[in-house]
Order: sequence, then C-alpha cells, then structure tokens
Amino acid sequence: MKINWTGFSKKTPKERQELVSSLLSQDKQVFLTQNQQLPIQTADQMAEHLLGTFSLPFALAPDFLINGKTYHIPMVTEEPSVVAAASFAAKLIKRSGGFTTTVHNRLMIGQVALYNVPDKKMAEQAILSHKSQLLSQANDAHPSIVKRGGGACDLWLEEKEDFLVTYLSVDTKEAMGANMLNTMLEALVPELEELSGGQSLMAILSNYATESLVTATCRVEVRYLSRDKTEAQQLAQKMELASQLAQVDIYRAATHNKGIFNGIDAVVLATGNDWRAIEAAGHSYANQQGSYRGLSTWTYDLENQQIVGELTLPMPIATKGGSIGLNPTVQVAHELLGNPNAKELAGVIASLGLAQNFAALKALTGTGIQAGHMKLQAKSLLLLAGANEAEVTQLLPKLLKEKHRNQETAQQLLAQLRH
Ligand code: HMG
Repeated sequence: MKINWTGFSKKTPKERQELVSSLLSQDKQVFLTQNQQLPIQTADQMAEHLLGTFSLPFALAPDFLINGKTYHIPMVTEEPSVVAAASFAAKLIKRSGGFTTTVHNRLMIGQVALYNVPDKKMAEQAILSHKSQLLSQANDAHPSIVKRGGGACDLWLEEKEDFLVTYLSVDTKEAMGANMLNTMLEALVPELEELSGGQSLMAILSNYATESLVTATCRVEVRYLSRDKTEAQQLAQKMELASQLAQVDIYRAATHNKGIFNGIDAVVLATGNDWRAIEAAGHSYANQQGSYRGLSTWTYDLENQQIVGELTLPMPIATKGGSIGLNPTVQVAHELLGNPNAKELAGVIASLGLAQNFAALKALTGTGIQAGHMKLQAKSLLLLAGANEAEVTQLLPKLLKEKHRNQETAQQLLAQLRH
C-alpha cells in the first residue's frame, strides 16, 4: 500500500505507528502499537548477568528510492537531527532519481596465524597442494551452509613478518557468519600445523571484510541545494571541497566517516546486526590505501549540474542468525524494510550512509551544522533540564532565540517559567 508521507515529522508517535501499520503483519502491528519490548526471558538468553533491558528511540526514515524500489528505513539512535537529516536527504535524492547500489561480493574472510614455521616457503607449498582437501574439511565442519548453497570458497597464504597466515573465504549466505567461520578455521588448525610444521597462534574471522564490499551512488540536481542558483552552485563546489578535505586530513576524515556511521549504525542496530563488526570493517577499509580517508566522495558534475556522491565500504550484514530471530523489535524493522535479503540490505544501508553524509556536508558547507542540529538538540536540553512535554513546547522557541543554547540556559528558562 502506498503511504502519504507528507507531514510525517509533525505527527505524534501514535499517528506514525498507525500510518506504518499497513507495512506490517498483524502480530508486528500489535507489537509496535503497544510499544512492546524485548521480553526479559529472551534478553536473559542473549547476554550474561542480566539486570533488565535498555531502550533507545526506534524511528523511521521513510521513502528512500534505491535501485528504483522504495524503502522505509528503521533507525535506532539517541542523537537528535540524525533521522531528520536522513529523511531530508532521502527527499532530495529521490527527486533527483534515487540511489543506485552495487554489491561487489558477499564473502567473509577468516585467518589462521601460524608461527614457529621452520620453512615458510615449503609450508606454503605444502598447504596449497592440499587446498581442495582443506576446503572440503572446512565445509565438513559446517555442512548446513553447504546445503544452503554457501560454504568455503578459497584459501590462500601470506607471509607477514614472523607469521605465515592462512586466509579462508566463505560464502555465508544470509548469516554474518562469525560462528561459521570460526568453526571452520578451528577445524583446519591440526592439518595446517602438520603441513607447516608450525604452531597456530589463533584461528578467527577477520572484520576487515574486503570481500563484502558494497557501493551506493547518487546524483543530486544542484538546483535542489538552494532556491538561489548562485548559492546552489557555491554549495555544490563546497561539498566537493569538503569531500577532498576528508581525503587529505585525518582529523576531518574521522568526523566525515562518523557522520556516515550516524546513519549506518542506526539501521545496523535496528536490524539486529553486529554494529562493532560493521564499524571495524568500515574504519579499517577507510585506511586501505595506507592513510585514513573519508569513505565517500562528492564531485560536482558541471556539465549536468549535479553533485555526484559515491560511498564504498564493507557491509557484512545478516538477515538471519545471531539475535535477529530473537528480538521482536528487530523483526519489525526487517518487515518495515520489506524483508530484504543480505545483499539488498547491504545496498540500503550504504544508501542511508551516503544520504546522512550528504545532509551533514550540505549543512556544514551551508548554514553550519548548529542551525539544524541545535534546533533539534534544544528539545533534548529542555528534557534533560526536567521540562515536561507542555513546558518543552512553551520553552523551545525561547531557547532557540538564546545566544548560549546549553544545559544551563535550559535550566534557567525552566526555572523562570515555573517561578
Ligand atoms: P531544514 O532545512 O531546517 O529543515 O533542515 P526543514 O524544517 O525545512 O525540513 C526539511 C525536511 O527535513 C523535512 O521535510 C523532513 O524531511 C526533514 P518535511 O517533512 O517538513 O516536508 N526534517 C525532519 N524530519 C523529522 N523530524 C524533524 C525534521 N526536521 C526536518 N524534526 C535538518 C533541518 C536537520 C534536516 C538539516 O539542518 C540537516 O540535515 N542538518 C544536518 C544534521 C546532521 O547531520 N546531524 C547529525 C548530527 S551532527 C554529526 O554528528 C555529524 C557531523 O559531524 C558529520 C560531519 O561532520 O560530516 C556533522
């Protein structure tokens, strides 16, 4: 069913829940509209020494056009203006034709690090001559993935200082595959030690997921950057410069990428995925050329008067396994997305990262980040000061007019109002 998203930001949470209900099955509708939570018994199975559950805002950035299809992206974030920025960018990018994504591959890599190897060259030859046997051994350690059409694909070696490292790539299908990889790698250890004459230091999956790359691109019409033609062109130039700065200055690159992960983390968390793995993969990939760089680039296409964005990063995302099937809110998130498979979801996540980056750069090179961010942050300041909903409504315009929009000012305004 087609939803009219006009005024979505002005609605109450209840109204929003009712609007998106048509995207959900009956049980998920009930779960969402009753604001039900992860049951404590389930939580107790997920982590140790449980005390309770911990809540965060669960929001929606609607109407992303990706490869010609519409997606509504669930986001879990505690930071004001992130969801607003994503929704804002999604609108402009949709008007300009939307996102295009390419999933380059979807394999996970693991490693067995061997040390005390008497002759690394001979060990390498011995291991490689048993490659097909080792791949079969890896698959025998986790036969269910072979039944699903995945399994161990390749095995190669690299000498790294005192170590001889064996790498294994595995098609993990819809799973993130950490347990699968680790089981396979540990199963190979005795054979690798025997063939190399060395010892295994460790056998573990790598989060530098270079065989799980995804690219999102978009072309935004420059005329949408501002109503004023000259200002729009200046903004396009400055966004290109901002992208160049993130390629040459690590201080900027870290913040540039943090902005991208504002979006990525939020959907990764909402979809029950391991956000530490996605962060580790993204940041190590940002350093793949030997210096830490911005993950995205923006170029000003003068001829077509478009600003062209591109983001490539590893996205070893899962739609099955881990806590995904356990957490009912996560299942709501997958349904809101239309239950995409892992490759499709990787493209959606990269698109959100690029949208987030677009909004941040537009704000930074235009009015500055504080105008939009602080407008939304101001609400949090008032809530933190102890204001109730009615007081927030009364005090928000006043706080926005203040020169120093901080906690202290929020407290003073609240005290004045109550006095
Ligand atoms: P604006 O032009 O003042 O917004 O921008 P507007 O009031 O004209 O609304 C335009 C649209 O934005 C709305 O359309 C919504 O889609 C969205 P409408 O629904 O009205 O037709 N929007 C909202 N959506 C939900 N709730 C809201 C809301 N307000 C607007 N309350 C905006 C305002 C915040 C969008 C803009 O200033 C912006 O994109 N700023 C960037 C904010 C940002 O990036 N925040 C992340 C935190 S800062 C950070 O950590 C990252 C950073 O360091 C990264 C970096 O350095 O690269 C910046």
